[in-house]
Amino acid sequence: MPYNLSFAISRLTLSDFRNYETLRINPSRPLIALTGQNGAGKTNVLEAVSLLVPGRGLRGSALNVIARLGGSASWAVAANISVPEGDFKIGTSYEGDPLAEDGGSSGRNAMIDGQLQRSPGGLSNYLKMLWLTPAMDRLFAGPASDRRRFFDRLVMSFDSHHGARVSAFEKVMRERNFLLQDPRCDYAWLTSIEAQMAELAIAIAAARNEAATTLARHFAAHADISPFPWGILQLLGEIEALVSAKPAVQAEAEYVMILKDSRNLDRAQGRTLKGPHRTDFSVLHGPKSQGAELCSTGEQKALLIGLILAQARAVKELVGAAPVLLLDEVAAHLDVHRRRGLFEALSALGVQAWMTGTDTSLFAEAGEASVLYNVEHGTILEVKT
Ligand SMILES: Nc1ncnc2c1ncn2[C@@H]1O[C@H](COP(=O)(O)OP(=O)(O)OP(=O)(O)O)[C@@H](O)[C@H]1O
Ligand SMILES: [Mg+2]
Repeated sequence: MPYNLSFAISRLTLSDFRNYETLRINPSRPLIALTGQNGAGKTNVLEAVSLLVPGRGLRGSALNVIARLGGSASWAVAANISVPEGDFKIGTSYEGDPLAEDGGSSGRNAMIDGQLQRSPGGLSNYLKMLWLTPAMDRLFAGPASDRRRFFDRLVMSFDSHHGARVSAFEKVMRERNFLLQDPRCDYAWLTSIEAQMAELAIAIAAARNEAATTLARHFAAHADISPFPWGILQLLGEIEALVSAKPAVQAEAEYVMILKDSRNLDRAQGRTLKGPHRTDFSVLHGPKSQGAELCSTGEQKALLIGLILAQARAVKELVGAAPVLLLDEVAAHLDVHRRRGLFEALSALGVQAWMTGTDTSLFAEAGEASVLYNVEHGTILEVKT
């Protein structure tokens, strides 16, 4: 059993997914390198893998645009997976309507061992997965909302219900914002909505605090041999601070009061000003003792890799198995010393990592732990090494 210490995919099948009519691969080694020219379909494979967990995948695309142009308007991804609980067959699919201009508006389905699930949420207890894409290059210097989403994804790899709670909070918050604008605002209803918000907010903040503590410990513990810097991570959120300082019941009551007291201000602003939807986090580059946002592009990239590796170690410590990593175009930004360091770190963790790059030479240092695929116009061939 090659992957008994990690979450892993042993077979991946795509149908009418992006530029693939059909695709089947059975990766035989833990480090999977997809190489090929720009536009060949490398990131598409990573996107397909990312849809094996709940959410909108690593591109955040609408479901209908994923369906292959000239295909059936529907698409599917299926996989054989090995997880600590055993081996399963999981999959997800989307039934598009070829006559509707927007491809129809249904959600995607999930299947587990042949059983249709009510929603993709059913996949949350199977694979654990983390990803890094070039779009995250500006994570430290960009908007707080991107960092919050990124952090919530990390929390989900500890607590599979976290994503559902965040969505539920956002939904009730929208309801509150709407109600505040209603001239005939039903105050009893508003109070009940705020109570629901507070209950969810406290659960969200508690999960974030717990994840931040564990992640920060792994991120600060540095190995001198690693080319990826250690760092200090700090969560910045009013509700998170409240939850760390007070018992949950009290924190919940205080957030209820905060909401009640800020009704007029929130009404004037047309949004809820205080809550877990405003949380951010900061990262300090350890060796430089400098805010991540002030570091160079290369330093920020290295720090982000360090953060993801720390999270992978944290998940492994918590659940006993390392998560699947999707690393889009990571190798291209690293010099040969850092590439070797990355492959060594991945091998030491025992993760299954799906990586992409335009050139096979980027993966030369990955050695025997790797399997190399050549991607070309929607076909993939294993390169014999
Ligand atoms: N729904 C679709 N149907 C058919 N082709 C699509 C669809 N969506 C995207 N494509 C095509 O898929 C191709 C491959 O995209 P992908 O992002 O995977 O390339 P890549 O190999 O990662 O390239 P790069 O090295 O530039 O990142 C693109 O040429 C794109 O036009
Ligand atoms: Mg790409």
